[in-house]
Amino acid sequence: MRVLITGAGGQVGTDLALVLAGVVPAAGAATALLGADPVREAEFEVAALARTQLDIADAQAVTSAIAAHRPDVVVHLAAYTAVDRAEADVEGATAVNETGTRNIVAAAESIGSHVVYVSTDYVFAGDLGREMVESDATGPLSVYGATKLAGELACRPTDTIVRTSWVAGLSGRNVIHLAAASARDGRALRFVDDQVGTLTSSADLAAGLVAMIRRRPGGVFHVAGSGSASWHEVITHAVVEAGGSAGQVTPISTAELDPQPAATRPAYSPLVSERLIEIEGVPLPRWQDGVARLVAAITSEGGS
Ligand SMILES: NC(=O)c1ccc[n+]([C@@H]2O[C@H](COP(=O)([O-])OP(=O)(O)OC[C@H]3O[C@@H](n4cnc5c(N)ncnc54)[C@H](OP(=O)(O)O)[C@@H]3O)[C@@H](O)[C@H]2O)c1
Repeated sequence: MRVLITGAGGQVGTDLALVLAGVVPAAGAATALLGADPVREAEFEVAALARTQLDIADAQAVTSAIAAHRPDVVVHLAAYTAVDRAEADVEGATAVNETGTRNIVAAAESIGSHVVYVSTDYVFAGDLGREMVESDATGPLSVYGATKLAGELACRPTDTIVRTSWVAGLSGRNVIHLAAASARDGRALRFVDDQVGTLTSSADLAAGLVAMIRRRPGGVFHVAGSGSASWHEVITHAVVEAGGSAGQVTPISTAELDPQPAATRPAYSPLVSERLIEIEGVPLPRWQDGVARLVAAITSEGGS
C-alpha cells in the first residue's frame, strides 16, 4: 500500500514513518492495537514529506506531489499548530489548516486516494464536564480549533478523521521533555490543574494511525491515550517518573498564568476512543503508560 504523509517533519510524522517501516519507536508503541498483525516488511511504501518537500498551502504543489506518488492513503498531519500565535494570525492558520486541507482532499479526490486527517480535541468547547465522544457537538474556542474544524469539514464523508489530544513524542520539544529536565536539575514548575484532557504518546498514536490506514473506515474517530488528567497531574507524573519529586510541581489555575495565553483552551476535553474500541477491540494504552515510556526514552537518550 502506498502512503503519503504530510507534515512528516513533526512529532507524529516522525513516529508514524518509523512504525510504517516496521520499526518500534524508542518510546515504544501501542503494539496491542496492532495485535497479531504487526507491520510486515515492505507492507507500506511511504512518501514522508516534510514542509520543505511539500507546502500544503500551495495547491499546485499538492496536486503535483499526489499525482507523482499516487498514494492509496494520504495521512494528513501538516498543520499550523502554534495555538496562541494563531489568534493574531487567522489568515496564516486558515491557509494551512483549512485551505491546505482542501488542497489535499481535492488532489486525493482526483486520483481516488483515501485521506486520514488528524484533528484535535480543541474542536470542542469542553464545557460539559465530561469526556467527549465522536458524536458530541463541536464548538471551538480558538482560531486553531476553528481552523482544524474547518479542515474536518473539508474532508469527504468517506475520509477518516482522527481526533487526538495533548500529543507528546520523543522528537518534539514538548512539556514532557521539560518535566524530565526539571527532574534532573530540581527546577520548580507551575502547571494548571483546571484544564483536563488526555495525554497521547505520539508513538502510540502512530500505531492507531496504522490501524486506520489499513482499515480506512471513514468518519470520525477519537484516538487518544486512555484516561484523563489535568496538566498538573500529567507533569507531576512525568517528573516523578524521571526521578524528581511531586513537590516540584505547583498547581495553579488558568487565571493565574502570567502572561495570559492568547488562545482559550477547553477546560475539560478528554477524548473517549469509543469507535476505535468498537472496530479494533482495544484503545490506546493509559496516558500514564505513554508518559512513562516517553520519559524512559528521553532519559536513556541522556537528554531532555
Ligand atoms: N501536538 C498536539 O498536541 C496535537 C493535539 C491534537 C492534534 N494534533 C494534530 O496532530 C497533527 C500532527 O501534530 P504534531 O504534534 O506532529 O505537530 P508538529 O510537530 O507541529 O507538526 C506539524 C508539522 O506540520 C508542518 N507544517 C506547518 N505548515 C505546513 C505547511 N504549510 N505545509 C506542510 N507542512 C506544514 C510543520 O512544519 P514546521 O515545523 O516547519 O512549521 C510541522 O512539521 C496536526 O494536524 C495537529 O493539528 C496535535
